[in-house]
Amino acid sequence: MTVQTRESAAELLQVRQLNAWYGEAHILFDVALEVRRGEVVALMGRNGAGKSTTLKAIMGLVERRQGEVSFMGQAIAQADPWQIARMGLGYVPEDRRIFSDLTVLENLEVGRQPARRWADGSAASHWTVEELLAFFPNLAAMPQRPGGQMSGGEQQMLTVARTLMGNPYLVLLDEPSEGVAPVIVEQMVQMMLQLKRRGVSILLCEQNLHFARLVSDRAYVLEKGAIQFAGSMQALVEQEQAGAKLIGV
Ligand SMILES: Nc1ncnc2c1ncn2[C@@H]1O[C@H](COP(=O)(O)OP(=O)(O)OP(=O)(O)O)[C@@H](O)[C@H]1O
Ligand SMILES: [Mg+2]
Repeated sequence: MTVQTRESAAELLQVRQLNAWYGEAHILFDVALEVRRGEVVALMGRNGAGKSTTLKAIMGLVERRQGEVSFMGQAIAQADPWQIARMGLGYVPEDRRIFSDLTVLENLEVGRQPARRWADGSAASHWTVEELLAFFPNLAAMPQRPGGQMSGGEQQMLTVARTLMGNPYLVLLDEPSEGVAPVIVEQMVQMMLQLKRRGVSILLCEQNLHFARLVSDRAYVLEKGAIQFAGSMQALVEQEQAGAKLIGV
């Protein structure tokens, strides 16, 4: 089965005047950003800046949100998280949500969704279990291991791999490098560059500029729930080197 989605502009994801609240606490203030087809975009900022809340608000996972969110040309600000995921928007939360009683292969099956096409009829990136295991050698070495018996980095890889089983057009990745061994971070970099080559776009939440600059085309910086910088990754790096200190490096 193939699912076809409308796609008007080069923008895959467009966010305008996004506000979000936890209870009475107003957390996001008129956040605006976009991700175009084929881009890796970094959403940066210090602890508590609102990076994760932005991803949750896009996915419909906050208590209250206001604003415009469109994905593949369709308004999703009123949609439920499962509907958004089914449209081909993948989400890897910061707390790796693998099933600890299920094996690696079983976890992958949970993520399976149909192949997708772009609006022009061309095939979007499609993943098989075999390809994903080739992509993540650590997982290939332990196909029958229960998720609960894996290291944090392995669980992180499994969460990403399971998301790719849904053949997403765009993946929201929340701090994949956090608390993960340097060797796994290096694998993450390679993985993200390969995803980009295969036409999968990424919105990457990150505090670490050294990591983000290796993979990202553009960047936004959040401070206290508002966008304080939008521009090329190169421009952000130059600003930080000039002492801007938007991000705790
Ligand atoms: N469930 C919640 N209930 C109430 N406040 C929350 C909740 N989750 C986050 N916050 C608050 O919202 C603000 C933004 O948090 P958020 O998790 O989006 O930041 P972040 O940029 O992802 O930070 P980190 O780098 O630590 O992951 C913070 O002030 C945080 O304390
Ligand atoms: Mg966070």
